[in-house]
Amino acid sequence: MCGIVGYIGNEQAAPFLLDGLKKLEYRGYDSAGIAVYNDSGIDVEKVKGRIKVLSDMLQGGTRVKGSLGIGHTRWATHGKPSDINSHPHMSETGNFAVVHNGIIENHMKLKNHLQELGKSFVSDTDTEVVAHLLDHFYKGDILDAIIKVINMVEGSYALGIICKDDPDTLYAVRKDNPLIIGLGKHENFIASDIPAILEKTRDIYRMQDNEIAEIKRESVTVYNMAKEVIPFEPYHVNWDIGAAEKGGYEHFMLKEIMEQPKAIQDTISPRIKNGKIVLDEMNLTPEELNRFQKIVIVACGSSYHVGVVSKYVIEKLARIPVEVDLASEFRYRDPLVDETSLVIAISQSGETADTLEALREAKRRGAKVISVVNVVGSSIAMESDGVLYTWAGPEISVATTKAYSTQLAMLYMIAIYLAKQRNRIDDAAYDHYVSELQRLPSLVEQALQNKEVVQYVASRHFNAKSIFFIGRNIDYALSLEGSLKLKEISYIHSEAYAAGELKHGTISLIEDGTLVVALATCKKLFDKTMSNAVEVKTRGACILGLTTEGNEKINDVADHVFYVPEAEELFMPSLAVIPLQLFAYYIALMKNCDIDNPRNLAKSVTVE
Ligand code: G6P
Repeated sequence: MCGIVGYIGNEQAAPFLLDGLKKLEYRGYDSAGIAVYNDSGIDVEKVKGRIKVLSDMLQGGTRVKGSLGIGHTRWATHGKPSDINSHPHMSETGNFAVVHNGIIENHMKLKNHLQELGKSFVSDTDTEVVAHLLDHFYKGDILDAIIKVINMVEGSYALGIICKDDPDTLYAVRKDNPLIIGLGKHENFIASDIPAILEKTRDIYRMQDNEIAEIKRESVTVYNMAKEVIPFEPYHVNWDIGAAEKGGYEHFMLKEIMEQPKAIQDTISPRIKNGKIVLDEMNLTPEELNRFQKIVIVACGSSYHVGVVSKYVIEKLARIPVEVDLASEFRYRDPLVDETSLVIAISQSGETADTLEALREAKRRGAKVISVVNVVGSSIAMESDGVLYTWAGPEISVATTKAYSTQLAMLYMIAIYLAKQRNRIDDAAYDHYVSELQRLPSLVEQALQNKEVVQYVASRHFNAKSIFFIGRNIDYALSLEGSLKLKEISYIHSEAYAAGELKHGTISLIEDGTLVVALATCKKLFDKTMSNAVEVKTRGACILGLTTEGNEKINDVADHVFYVPEAEELFMPSLAVIPLQLFAYYIALMKNCDIDNPRNLAKSVTVE
C-alpha cells in the first residue's frame, strides 16, 4: 500500500531511490516518483505506471542530480492513477516535497480551509494537504511546522519530507503505517520495508507512532510530539539479501512456493523442545489459558483463510469455541469479546490497518490479544500481549504462499498447545500430533515434486472463464485459499463453496466444461464430497479431484487428480495447498499475467 524511500548522503540519491522503489513495488505499482534536492531547488519527477517507466524516463536516475531525496511507489486511494496524482507532492511555493503512505481522513476539511486561505491544489490526493499545511505553518523551524501539521491531520501516515530551505535534512514521521530508518556510514535512509535498503545497511530502526525523525548524513535524531529528543534502539537484520531476491526463479511467487518446507521447519522447530511444544512467547499464564471461554481470530485475506482452517483444528483439539472474523467486520460490529476471550490476530505484514484496529478494539474490551506475524517489530506485533513470529523470511510476491503455510503451522502449534494445557488430549494423542507436525516440512517437500501433473491440468484449463472450488469441513476451509490464489493472479473468476451448499444456488452457474476442483482429503466425508462432485459432473462440469496418495476411488468421478502425501487429517491443508498454489501459478504463467504484481492489488494494506 504505497512504498516510501528516502536518502541523504554523499552519493547520488536518484539511482538509489529508483532501486529502492523497485524493491518496494509489491506495495503498490500504479505510479511512481522521486524528489531530489539540488542547486535549482527540489526536482520532482513522477509518472503514471511502473517504476520501470520512471526509471527509463530518468535514465536509471542519472538525469537527476543531488544527494538528498525521497521516492514513492503508489497504490491509489484518493485520486486515480495519473502523473499529477503521483507522489511526491509539492507545496505551492515549491518549498516542501512530501511522500505519503496512508490516508489523511480529514483532508477534505483541511483542503477547504486551505483553499479559503488562497492555496490552490493541483491533484485529487489527500496527501497534497500535508505539503500545503507544512508551508502554511513553516516560520523558519521545520520541526515545529511538522508537529503542527501532525496535530491537525487525522488518519494514518508514514511521511518522508524534504524542504528547500534545508539541504542537509530528511524528515520522517509515522502513525499506523510502517517506516524504518536505515543507519549507514556518512549516509542514512528511510523506507517502508527492509528490502529497499538492505544492500546499503543492516542497521535498522523501526519508527514508532508519533515519532519524528530528523535525519542527516552523520546523525539521526528522533523526537516525540513535544519536541523532546527520545532514545532509539536500532537492531541488526541478519537475514540474507538473497532472501529478497529471485535467486534464479522466474518469479518470487515460485521461489516462495519452493521455500515452504524450510519456512515451516524454521517456524516449528525452535518451538519444539524434547518433544514438547513451548510457546512462552504467548505470554499467557496456565491460569489464563484455562480461563478463556472462547477464541476469536481476526485477520484479512489469506491470513483470514488460515483462521478458517484453524477453527476446525482448535475446536477439534482444544474443545474451545472459535469465532473467525474478517478484521474489517469485527471492528465495527460491537463484538462480544471481554477478559474471558483470547483474540488471535493473524497477519503476514503486521501492518494491515483493519487487523491492527481490530486488535486495538479487542484490547479496549479487555481481551488478551496474541498475534501471529511475519514481520519482526511491526505494529501488530508491538501492540499484542504476546507475539508468535512465523519465520517465513521476507515474502515479496503479492500473492502469499509461504507466509500462509507458516501461519497454518503456527496455528496448529497453538491448537496442540492449548489442547494440552487445557487437558483435552492425552499424552499419546499429544505425541502423535507433535510428531505429525514435525513431519510436515518433508511431506511438503514431497508434495512439491508433483509439478508436472499440475502443469498439465493448467495447460488444459488456463482459458477457463470460471473455476469453482468445493470441499467439506477443513477441505472447505482450504478451498477458500485455493480459489483466492487463482483469482488474484490469473484473473479467472472463481468461487469457493462448501460442497453441501452448492446446490442451494451456485450450482446454477455450472455449464458444460466448467472446472470444479473437488478437495477431498477428509476421509469420513470423502463419499459425500464425491456425491457433490457427481452432482455437478452430471450438469456438465469437469472435475479436478484432490486427495491423498493411494486413493484410487476418486478416479471414478474425477477427470484429473492432484495427489498429495497423507498426513494427520487436521494438517492436510498444509499439503493440499501446494498443488493449488502451483495450479494458480501455472495458469497465470500460461495467461502471461504479471504474477508477482497482480493488477489492483498490494501486498500490505495499510488503509481501511
Ligand atoms: C493483502 C495481500 C494478501 C494478504 C492480506 C492480509 O490483501 O494481498 O495476500 O493476505 O493483505 O495481509 P496480512 O499482511 O495482514 O497478512
